[in-house]
This record gives sequence, C-alpha cells and structure tokens, in this order.
Amino acid sequence: MYTWIRPLLFQLDPETAHHLTLASLSVVPGAARWLARPVQPSPRLRQRLWHLDFPHPLGLAAGLDKDGVAIPAWAGCGFAFAEVGTVTPRPQPGNPRPRLFRLPADGALINRMGFNNRGGAALRQRLLKLPARPCWIGVNLGKNKDTPNAQAADDYAQLVRTLADVADYLVINVSSPNTPGLRDLQAQSELLPLVRRVLAERSAVAGPSARPQPPVLVKLAPDLADDDLTELAASLLQAGVDGFIATNTTLARPRLQSAHAGEAGGLSGRPLRARATAVVRQLYQVTRGRVPIIGCGGVFSAADAYEKICAGANLVQIYTALIYRGPQVVSEIVRGLDDLLARDGWPSLQSAVGSQAQA
Ligand SMILES: Cc1cc2nc3c(=O)[nH]c(=O)nc-3n(C[C@H](O)[C@H](O)[C@H](O)COP(=O)(O)O)c2cc1C
Repeated sequence: MYTWIRPLLFQLDPETAHHLTLASLSVVPGAARWLARPVQPSPRLRQRLWHLDFPHPLGLAAGLDKDGVAIPAWAGCGFAFAEVGTVTPRPQPGNPRPRLFRLPADGALINRMGFNNRGGAALRQRLLKLPARPCWIGVNLGKNKDTPNAQAADDYAQLVRTLADVADYLVINVSSPNTPGLRDLQAQSELLPLVRRVLAERSAVAGPSARPQPPVLVKLAPDLADDDLTELAASLLQAGVDGFIATNTTLARPRLQSAHAGEAGGLSGRPLRARATAVVRQLYQVTRGRVPIIGCGGVFSAADAYEKICAGANLVQIYTALIYRGPQVVSEIVRGLDDLLARDGWPSLQSAVGSQAQA
C-alpha cells in the first residue's frame, strides 16, 4: 500500500507530507494497521528491561511525533514502543522553514527542525487522555532555545516534574544539533550535574509510591570523539543513568549524492548506520550489559537491526526508514530479526546482545 502512497507524499514538501501523515494518523489511527502488516513476534524476541516487558525490540525514534498525537497509530504499525518529543517546558515554533530535506539517493534526511513542539503541559494532557497504553511510551526531554545552558538543568527538572508519572521511560536529550549550544551539555562537567539533578527530581516526584520510577536514559550524538565517549559513558553509569540511546543525527557529511547534501542540520538514515553502530559497540564495551542500550541510526532492515543488537543494543529505533519504506518495514524487521537469531543459533535476543562487541 505504501508503494502507492509514497510517490504522492514525495510530491509534497517533506514537512507538509509529515504534517499531513501525522494529522491523518491522529484522526484515524486504524489506518496504520491497514498500511502495516501484522506483527506476531516470536517468544525469542521477548525481553524484560527495567520493569517493562517488550514483545520485540523495535520502537519509533524521537522527533517524528513530538507532541504524542498519534500513539495508537504507532502501536498499530507494530512498534513495541514509541518515543515522543523532544518536548521542551514551554511551547516553541522551532526554526524557520524549510527545515526538513529528503536525500533519496542516499536513503537519508537532513533536518534542522529545532524542537518545534507544544510544550510539556500539553504533552502531559495528551498522554493522560490515552484510554490505554497501546505500547510503551518514552518521553524525550530538551531545553527551550531561549534557556541559557547555565539554567538548562531547570528546564529538564521541570519536565521531569510534569511528565515522569505519564512516561514509561525518560530521555535526556543533549545531542540534537539544531538547538544552539545544546551539544555543549555533553561535556562531562555539564552533563554530570544535569543528570544528577534529573535523577534526584525523578525520585522526589515518585516519592514512596508503588509505581516504579521511569528509567532515565541519555541520548548521545554520533559526533563525540571516542575517548570522550568512553569517559562520559563511564561517569554517567556511575552517576546512575538507566541506559543510553545511540545515536542522534550527525553533523558529518559522508559521501552524499543528493541535491540537498549541503543543507545545514542533522543527517539521519543510511549514511549514519555504521557510525551509530560503532557508538553502540563502544558504549557496550563500557557498560557490559549493566544498563540497556537503544541502538538508533540508519536501521532499514532486519540485518541492520541485528548489527545493532550484536554490537550491544537491547532495543532498536527507526525514523528515516519509516519515511522511505513505510509502516510495513516494522513487521519486516521484526520477522527478519527472528530468522537471523534462529540462523545463528541464539535461543533469545538477549543472548545475542553484545556478541560482536569485542574491542
Ligand atoms: C526530522 C527529524 C526530527 C528529529 N527530531 C528529533 C528530536 O526532536 N529529538 C531527538 O532526540 N531526535 C530527533 N531526531 C533523531 C532521531 O530520533 C534519530 O536519532 C535519528 O534520526 C537516527 O535514526 P534514523 O537513521 O533511523 O532516522 C530527529 C530525526 C529526524 C529525521
């Protein structure tokens, strides 16, 4: 079905196509089931991570549904989890358009959206209105553009207070390239106090309640130097983070062919795959399975997802592949992954995690 719809959507400016699709899926979430193929994950793919049971490892990456308007549709596509956001404390319009570009010859996108979103309070209301949890929901947190880095921790802390009780996991996003100065927060001297503040705020919000606290993950850029990454991961682990997402989009421009290759912003999709996998592998060498890693970047097929898992990822997310391949890519990856695990004799997905992570 998507093979008919894609040429029509690709006639439109990418952001118009994006809004049209999102609006349609928010009004008619059942359309996702019609576009996708049913996902019947084998027991081999099941994992319990933190306090959550995942029927399979594939989720929707942050940024596609920043305001959480189409969550039932993501479950309908077959995703086991969907990450909404990046959300900022106050609503903000993002950067001027055009700010999203297709690079079809490269299987890539470049975006400089700049965290356009309706703010934390609106997202909270939307998540509260969901009749049920159709899949696990991660909430990706960012700071407002006009909040100076010196006060960034206040923005993240405020978002934790607003959203911790409606999120299944939280993500500290300090790796988007389109908010000036945001990536400076990845410096250890900046990030450690920020993470400690978020963790403290989460415990304060949860109090003595019986509900488990949402795990807090940190999403990292693929553009960190290897030494910095190792040092950062070790100290974040010690500070008590519950996991990592690797990676966000890249500022690198490796051998691109498409007309928009020179646009400013973050590059996602196929050209990011190898570097994102290398970051997963490096993180796994530090963490050794003590906390889960979500692998993200250039996953278009079951083989790509398997590569991330063998490098050390427990879960895998996609964004760009959904634009190019449509919702049926979800069932294709989930089914193909099970075949690959069976081919290589792994009794469970978990047993394959990190199997190719040796230094
Ligand atoms: C248009 C667009 C917007 C994005 N917005 C966000 C965002 O708001 N927050 C975030 O953490 N990542 C954002 N991302 C990054 C994705 O979550 C993901 O890390 C990246 O695209 C790599 O995965 P992919 O190659 O499967 O697309 C965005 C990506 C795209 C293409």
